[in-house]
Amino acid sequence: MTVTICADHADASARAAVIVAGALRAQPALVLGLPTGRTPVALYAALVGARLDWARARTFNLDEFAGLPARDPGSFRAFMDEHLFWRVNLPPAHIGFLHGDAADEAGECACYERAIDEAGGLDLLVLGLGANGHIGFNEPGPELRAGTHAVGLHASTRAANADRFGGDPARVPARGLTLGMGQVLRARRILMLATGAAKADAVAALIEGPLTTRCPASWLQVHPEVTLLVDRAAGAGLRDA
Ligand code: F6R
Repeated sequence: MTVTICADHADASARAAVIVAGALRAQPALVLGLPTGRTPVALYAALVGARLDWARARTFNLDEFAGLPARDPGSFRAFMDEHLFWRVNLPPAHIGFLHGDAADEAGECACYERAIDEAGGLDLLVLGLGANGHIGFNEPGPELRAGTHAVGLHASTRAANADRFGGDPARVPARGLTLGMGQVLRARRILMLATGAAKADAVAALIEGPLTTRCPASWLQVHPEVTLLVDRAAGAGLRDA
């Protein structure tokens, strides 16, 4: 794992943009895994500004709220439309997204898993980090799942997403659909961004802690190609920082 302590969030985002843009230029048919959240907003703005050619790229987002149609303003799909998809020349048919409102959740998850496999797997997976160590909606707990699955969201995760639902955690859907740890760990390369003091404990557990289902991100330690960009605040808990 390569860990870089960046000056601040803007610096980390700029470095992440260089990596993603470089990957897309080197491999125009890149299969890219993407997160939502506050962390990647500046990264997406930088990628939009870089005027890259997305015509042959394919994207698969990590997760979506269960029960929400894509057009719901609180959905992750709406977030991605606003911050990236509507601003670049990525063909809509190349956008992979879990349908939160699918009647058959298990079928939807299996279909998504198959679509990623048929695309050849993820070449580059960009990740954010939950303050509780979650990846996508893979929440800490007694077990983790390898496959794409439906999951109950922790109260802290609902609270962290409340701003998309009028600031009220009770309005945030209680469940989500998410890539499992299998697809995450099969990505050929992983780029994780974690900034802000709220992520310091999770960053320390991810890098220096034991492998444990209590910190899903700790499993990145077994991946051969992880680049982790943190700012000083998020890196403050590291022994060698
Ligand atoms: C969302 C996702 C989540 C976020 C994490 C951090 O698609 O994958 O795991 O990356 O909750 O969220 P922010 O960036 O808002 O702190």
